[in-house]
Amino acid sequence: MAKEVRLNKYHQINEYEEQIGYAIDQEWFHDLALHTQIVVKESPLCYAHGRVLYSALSYYLQQHPPASPTDMVTIWETGTARGFSAICMAKALKDQQRAGTIITFDVLPHRTSMYWNCIDDWDGPKTRVELSNLKSEKTVQAMGSTSLVSWIQVVSATLNDSPKNT
Ligand SMILES: C[S@@+](CC[C@H](N)C(=O)[O-])C[C@H]1O[C@@H](n2cnc3c(N)ncnc32)[C@H](O)[C@@H]1O
Repeated sequence: MAKEVRLNKYHQINEYEEQIGYAIDQEWFHDLALHTQIVVKESPLCYAHGRVLYSALSYYLQQHPPASPTDMVTIWETGTARGFSAICMAKALKDQQRAGTIITFDVLPHRTSMYWNCIDDWDGPKTRVELSNLKSEKTVQAMGSTSLVSWIQVVSATLNDSPKNT
C-alpha cells in the first residue's frame, strides 16, 4: 500500500512548492507517512496535506522572522490522530531553526495503549507517546540529535487517560 501511494503525483502541490520555495524532504516524508498515514480504510490514501503544511509554514516563518531571540511561534492544531501533521509542522520549525510549540488536541487518549490502525500495531497496542517515540528514533537517525517531538505538546480530552502508561 505504501509503495503504491508514494507514486501518486500531485501536480498542483509540486507547482505550489516551486512557487513558494520550500518542499519537504521526500524520503523522510514517506517514511513518516508509513508509520502515521498508511492505514486500512475505504477511501483512497492521501497524505499530501503534509507537504502543503510544511511548505506553507516554512514560507510563513521566513516572512515573519523573530523580533527578538526569545520569540516563539505557537501553533494550535485540532485533531492529532497519529501526529502526522504536527510532525510535518515541527520539521518546518526545526528546519527554519525557530523556537516554538505545536499544541495539538485530540479526543483520543495520549497515554492509553490502543491500536492505531497503522503499521506499528504489528507487535501490540501502544500509546501515542510510544508511537511518537518510534518516530523520534527515526528522526534522530535521519536528522541529527534533536527529536522533533520536543516541539510538540499533545492535549488529550480523555478524562481517564492513564499517566501510568507513559
Ligand atoms: C482526520 S484526523 C486528523 C489527522 C491529522 N491532523 C493528520 O494529518 O494526521 C481527525 C482527528 O480529529 C480527532 N477529533 C475529532 N473530533 C475532535 C474534537 N472535537 N476535538 C479534538 N479532536 C477531535 C479525531 O479523534 C481524529 O484523531
